[in-house]
Amino acid sequence: MKSTFFAGAVAALTSFTTVVSAQSYNQTGPFYLQIKSDNATLDGRYLTACHSGAAQETLCLGKVDSPTTNKASASFFWNTTDQSPVGVLIWNLVLAKNPDGTQMVVSSPMTLDYTPGTNVATTRFGPNEIDRSVQVGFNNSVMYMTWWNDDSTFLAGQYPTGDSSREITNWNVCWVLAGSYYYNALAWVTGGAPHNPTCEAVSVVKVEPSA
Ligand SMILES: *[C@@H]1O[C@H](CO)[C@@H](O)[C@H](O)[C@H]1NC(C)=O
Ligand SMILES: *[C@@H]1O[C@H](CO)[C@@H](O)[C@H](O)[C@H]1NC(C)=O
Ligand SMILES: *[C@@H]1O[C@H](CO)[C@@H](O)[C@H](O)[C@H]1NC(C)=O
Ligand SMILES: *[C@@H]1O[C@H](CO)[C@@H](O)[C@H](O)[C@H]1NC(C)=O
Repeated sequence: MKSTFFAGAVAALTSFTTVVSAQSYNQTGPFYLQIKSDNATLDGRYLTACHSGAAQETLCLGKVDSPTTNKASASFFWNTTDQSPVGVLIWNLVLAKNPDGTQMVVSSPMTLDYTPGTNVATTRFGPNEIDRSVQVGFNNSVMYMTWWNDDSTFLAGQYPTGDSSREITNWNVCWVLAGSYYYNALAWVTGGAPHNPTCEAVSVVKVEPSA
């Protein structure tokens, strides 16, 4: 329901403007995110931001195979600083035009939502989430996250030393609940075999728009 959506969005924005983060970023994009998979049904599909609550979106398997038919929902950005090889994945939520004709755009960072009963976390873009956002990087365009301390190397009573960080790419396409919506969407498996039997491991690749 449109009016409910915008009322919620405005409420979320009001709190957003009061807690603006001081961190500044360099931004690259827009770019698209494409699935790579051995499964021909999934391979080549683009990810799109789809509605999962007031001013909230998750990364759905595109209803369209080409982002050219819906560029805004398939266009993402990457906010980085010189201090780190990883940065924040961003989707711009475009709100209705203000009465003066200007368009309100909310730079929405990606977070992961975890629930206690499963190792499958869902993606979520929302305003006011920068402190909870996850950091992603691109290695030869392949999207990864960093595991700073690999706890499989831990020893009892010995504080971990050395750099055990590594790139991890636990992306899966699964049927998930995002808010109250049931979507075939990108998800993150924290470790081991996915608890959700609909999950299929995939790679996510950054694609520059051709025009
Ligand atoms: C991302 O970076 C751009 C450009 O610096 C900035 O305008 C935007 O507010 C940033 N987004 C977030 C969520 O910090
Ligand atoms: C390929 O993916 C589709 C959609 O997730 C799924 O229904 C199908 O079972 C998969 N095929 C194989 C061979 O895994
Ligand atoms: C953004 O990029 C410029 C040019 O490379 C650099 O001088 C600046 O420090 C960067 N900003 C941040 C926040 O890392
Ligand atoms: C980047 O990806 C390549 C190819 O998959 C891999 O060999 C390399 O180790 C990766 N880089 C890092 C820093 O993990």
